[in-house]
Amino acid sequence: MNKNFVVVKDVGKRVHPCYDEVGVTIVDKRTWWKEAVVYQIYPRSFYDTNGDGIGDLNGITAKLDYLQELGVDVLWLSPIFRSPNADNGYDISDYEDIMAEFGTLSDFDRLLKEAKARGLKLLLDLVVNHTSDEHPWFIASRKNDPRYRDFYIWREGKEGAPPTNWFAAFGGSAWKYVPERRAYYLHLFTEKQPDLNWEEKNVRDAVYAMMRFWLDKGVDGFRMDVINLIGKPDVFEDAPVPPGETYGNGFAFIANHPKSYWYLREMYDEVLSHYDVMTVGETPAVTPDVALNYVADGKPLNMVFQFEHMDVDSGKNKWDVRPVDWVRFKTIMSRWEEGLADRGWNSLYLNNHDQPRSVSRYVTRSADSALRRRGAKMLATMLHLMQGTPFIYQGEEIGMTNVAFPRIEDYRDVETLNFYAEGRKRGVAHEALMPSIYAKSRDNARTPMQWSHERHAGFTQGEPWIKVGSNYTEINVESSLSDPDSIFHYYRALIRLRKRLPVIVYGTYTVYDLDHPSLYIYERKLNGDALLVLLNLTETVQHYTVPSTFYGHQAELILNNIEPLAAFWPYINGEVAPDLTLHRLTDLTFAPYEARVYHLVSA
Ligand code: GLC
Ligand code: CA
Repeated sequence: MNKNFVVVKDVGKRVHPCYDEVGVTIVDKRTWWKEAVVYQIYPRSFYDTNGDGIGDLNGITAKLDYLQELGVDVLWLSPIFRSPNADNGYDISDYEDIMAEFGTLSDFDRLLKEAKARGLKLLLDLVVNHTSDEHPWFIASRKNDPRYRDFYIWREGKEGAPPTNWFAAFGGSAWKYVPERRAYYLHLFTEKQPDLNWEEKNVRDAVYAMMRFWLDKGVDGFRMDVINLIGKPDVFEDAPVPPGETYGNGFAFIANHPKSYWYLREMYDEVLSHYDVMTVGETPAVTPDVALNYVADGKPLNMVFQFEHMDVDSGKNKWDVRPVDWVRFKTIMSRWEEGLADRGWNSLYLNNHDQPRSVSRYVTRSADSALRRRGAKMLATMLHLMQGTPFIYQGEEIGMTNVAFPRIEDYRDVETLNFYAEGRKRGVAHEALMPSIYAKSRDNARTPMQWSHERHAGFTQGEPWIKVGSNYTEINVESSLSDPDSIFHYYRALIRLRKRLPVIVYGTYTVYDLDHPSLYIYERKLNGDALLVLLNLTETVQHYTVPSTFYGHQAELILNNIEPLAAFWPYINGEVAPDLTLHRLTDLTFAPYEARVYHLVSA
């Protein structure tokens, strides 16, 4: 028996997830944000309390009991600040006030207080690569007001053309000409999102002051929007233009520029280090090696959102939809698990407000709802049992799916609308554009949260700002709560299991049979405690002989997405030793989308 840790059987008796029965510490240092599960809320689409069709802060407060029941620890709110909504709040015109449609500062204070009362922490979205063009700083800057002149990135044109040939993220040039200043400003996103000039110390100080404003209210950290783009090169050069295209990729010169590290270091020293907070940087174009510059010990952030695994179903760009390449997916995830092990920390996500719904993306496109539910549970198992902090995006926990609105007029997202308009301009037919939109539009994630089978899925008493998914009578919170085998209860089980078994948070990760195209198999280990996770990624039956290291070993099945969940709750809840049949690991057969989690019993 391992001296430091008592394995299996009596998990229920363990006094505390990170200590064994004699109180020996099994991890050096516990960290709350490593043990946490985060839930992302897109406020506009979460819950509307005043019938204007737009979700609001009071709507979040109204649903805190639901989130507490799910068992998450931290809520991350997509931007709630004043904004003209060119990019749904990712274009901020006042960082210290609330978006009018979402409520008031006192609504926010109440939300924070009610969240804290339930033991929930709150992260805000820090959008400081750019502001709105309606922010007073920009209004002053474009007028050449000396106090704000250099708050943004202004350059002269080149013979009547923009300073460089870079594209903006959602289409068109990254530069816009302002006659008043006889200069162009840089906007890496829409032209209503001018990039801040982080060179300017006054900009940085203003951002830090704003961060303190929220931290002093008691918020618990930030998700930092495209934070590895804040540092810009000293000299702006043209980028190569691929054949047949108009613009070059300026992001390649910008992402992860050394200045970004430097600014984040300063932000850490001046602000973050003075609070007990959690930080996660959204960082396109990072590899594990690059990420270590942000998240290794002594670095300014706790974790980053990487994007590599979001590209496994894309060809030349996101709209060029390909079948999911699972071997590539597993290779990427494993590279991150191994790359950050002992040196940094991973974030784990399959969904957010910018991505299509994972169940539609990675799981069966068939209409069989039982299979779809099983697939959703398989994906959840995969993600939540890796090493890292799992993020759940609203609706994921009930298996919400993509939508397919036949008319472009029903879409709201600026990226989607620009893609459509540009395609039409090039003469591409409506019918040829829509399949990409059905598969990848960001609006897939932004349709209203499906609360019940009532009108508009119980999201609003008015007309919702974007249409509700058509399957809300089947997929909704109300029916998920009442069905003990729903996806919701499976997520609850995974979260509860995380609180019971420190191996899930702190254990090492080892992948097996990486080249297997249909199965994902990995092991987690901590001081002699071991879990084996086996996932069938496909819609067909799979046979598998376990790796020789496990062959013939005894194991307890502690979670599975086919048997009723009731069989596993006694174990998960740590009640009296459950009466689980021991399995001998040999040749195994997996049903479509089956997920199994074995607790290995030491020989
Ligand atoms: C991030 C956000 C996205 C937004 C963009 C510009 O990628 O997640 O929603 O459009 O930054 O702020
Ligand atoms: Ca409202």
